[in-house]
Amino acid sequence: MTEQPLIVLLPGDGIGPEITSATREVLDLLGDFIWEEHLIGGASIDEHGQALTDEVVQACRESSAVLLGAVGGPKWDAAVASDPSAPRPEQGLLGIRKELGLFANLRPVKPFAALLDASPLKRDRIEGTDLLVVRELTGGIYFGESGRRGDDVAFDECAYSVQEIERIARVAFEAAARRAGGDRSPKVTSVDKANVLETSRLWRETVTRIAEEYPDTEFDHFLVDNAAMQLVSRPADFDVIVTENLFGDILSDESAMLTGSLGMLPSASLGTDGPGLFEPVHGSAPDIAGQGIANPLATMLSGAMLLRDGLGMASEATTVEEAVDGVLRAGLRTPDLYTGAEGETEVGTEEVTRAVIEQIQG
Ligand code: NAD
Ligand code: IPM
Ligand code: MN
Repeated sequence: MTEQPLIVLLPGDGIGPEITSATREVLDLLGDFIWEEHLIGGASIDEHGQALTDEVVQACRESSAVLLGAVGGPKWDAAVASDPSAPRPEQGLLGIRKELGLFANLRPVKPFAALLDASPLKRDRIEGTDLLVVRELTGGIYFGESGRRGDDVAFDECAYSVQEIERIARVAFEAAARRAGGDRSPKVTSVDKANVLETSRLWRETVTRIAEEYPDTEFDHFLVDNAAMQLVSRPADFDVIVTENLFGDILSDESAMLTGSLGMLPSASLGTDGPGLFEPVHGSAPDIAGQGIANPLATMLSGAMLLRDGLGMASEATTVEEAVDGVLRAGLRTPDLYTGAEGETEVGTEEVTRAVIEQIQG
């Protein structure tokens, strides 16, 4: 690569700065990057009075990829509680997703072998799990036109257009095709609430029509309540799960527990062109922020997705994933993963980061 990729770093709030600085150190071992750091979320509200500024949107547009920590925290929740018109950190995240057209959020769930006993679920249920949640990210109830309050009533509108459903369905079917090979044949499961919601009935009709373009892909539907149950009872049977914004948010946090901790789950948010945004699935974890104990691995694995999907650096991405695997095999565990089993050592963010760096440096 002749030109140095420019990565915009948006640490955000809570544990965001701790986990993104750890990831930056790791990525710097693998490429020659220009980093540009900006405020988002609560940190931006404190400085500029809004969660996302035009300057930051512009910087992201001009970047090769964006790495984000997390936004939000009780301080800003309290401000909104006393003044409903106060800005919310989460508006920054929703805003940047919308501005960059990042309609496809890919959340892979593949437990590391060393963590098969770190989950509260039994090992025999989890073994073989390798699924991908494809979450629609710029539509649905998150972006309804009429989020509003009356004196004793509130409204959130959920709308989906055929075009929005078609494009996310195609992402899911293409992803299933890419993931197939060996003894894996492509499979897409669409999740909705078509027994109740009109948007879900349109979702089901539309995804079913797109499925006809992919006759070699096994295709089925689940209602979301059933899907939530099946995800913990037989997770290894899923391949690609495609679903709307809110259901994808909830199901992905649920599936994180298959990997042992929410602190393990990475994600990539992609549009049709332009830079992608890479971020852990978890939030700003205000309960542990500043204590040096946050698990940085979800962010490092998001960094690996940034390298592979954002910058086309597939072998460097694999290097990060193998280093994480090595550190887990060596028994290092941040508190969210620590079970006290023989061979485990409880460590903080700094120690686990050093260990990943040492693995990469050989
Ligand atoms: P959360 O994901 O921040 O935390 C849930 C639980 O998981 C907490 O007990 C936390 O300590 C733990 N946890 C999360 N990440 C961890 C990590 N890397 N290492 C160790 N433990 C970890 O969810 P929440 O508490 O419901 O939300 C807190 C704030 O984060 C809210 O303001 C919410 O809006 C925001 N949030 C932001 C994002 C994002 O920026 N992408 C995602 C989810 C929530
Ligand atoms: C996530 C988060 C966000 C979402 C919030 C913070 C707006 O939970 O990225 O999963 O709901 O999309
Ligand atoms: Mn979420």
